[in-house]
Amino acid sequence: MEDRYLELAIQAAREAGRIQKARFGHSNRVELKGEINPVTEVDRLCERIISEMILGIFPDHDLLTEETPFKGKGSRWRWIIDPLDGTTNYIHRFPFFAVSIGMEMDGVMELGVAYDPVREELFHAVRGQGAFLNGQRITVSETEDLGQSLLCTGFPYDVRENLDGYLCYFRQFMIKGFAIRRPGSAVLDLCHLAAGHFDGFWEFKLHAWDVAAGSLIVTEARGQVTGITGQPFIIYSKDILASNGLIHQQMIEAVQEVNSEGPRQRA
Ligand code: IPD
Ligand code: CA
Ligand code: CA
Repeated sequence: MEDRYLELAIQAAREAGRIQKARFGHSNRVELKGEINPVTEVDRLCERIISEMILGIFPDHDLLTEETPFKGKGSRWRWIIDPLDGTTNYIHRFPFFAVSIGMEMDGVMELGVAYDPVREELFHAVRGQGAFLNGQRITVSETEDLGQSLLCTGFPYDVRENLDGYLCYFRQFMIKGFAIRRPGSAVLDLCHLAAGHFDGFWEFKLHAWDVAAGSLIVTEARGQVTGITGQPFIIYSKDILASNGLIHQQMIEAVQEVNSEGPRQRA
């Protein structure tokens, strides 16, 4: 993979992050896309800037972004962008959010970049070349026992309509794991798993822009990413189970135990 793709992704993520940091805590206009699904003028501005930076150099490439309907040109290259992951945190001034940029070539994830502008932490991975945090190689944790694991999750925006369908897994992992966190930015959840701070992560109904960069960063940090019951993961598959690999089977069994208790109206 050419270096210029990675350089561009990093440049765009840093530029969007700079704007987010500069406007953090200011009264940014907020709209609701759903009852509890916010978007701010900063999300839209960052998306426009990242898109312009990419299309300015690669006008034929496709962009799949959160805030603009997808208009594919049939390109071999697809950039998958969440301009601000953690908008609910952002509008409440909770300083945990990031820019996420991934790139697929011929349907294969080639690179992922996530930038946390508050901590000035830049995570990146290129397929086959490892994962890095501010240029230093990162790897997942060595925790072998689910009972000792710090787990992490999030809830989709239809949580109120489907509460029991999500809480049954939360309850199960409360019992089986050491502790659970719900930080509010899927890409940073995955990056902190990649860096060994979390041991496992699961979530339902995510979108490709939430997981494209982060899932590659996890696998390049020698972690494992699958669907919720162990099926092969693709970024368009919505449900995700990610771990350090060592506790993966234990997490799958925990999920299967819940599933065997009967269907809940999740999907
Ligand atoms: C959300 C965050 C959150 C996750 C939600 C996502 P957004 O993304 O990643 O952690 O639980 O499911 O939609 O809307 O802030 O880009
Ligand atoms: Ca997101
Ligand atoms: Ca977003």
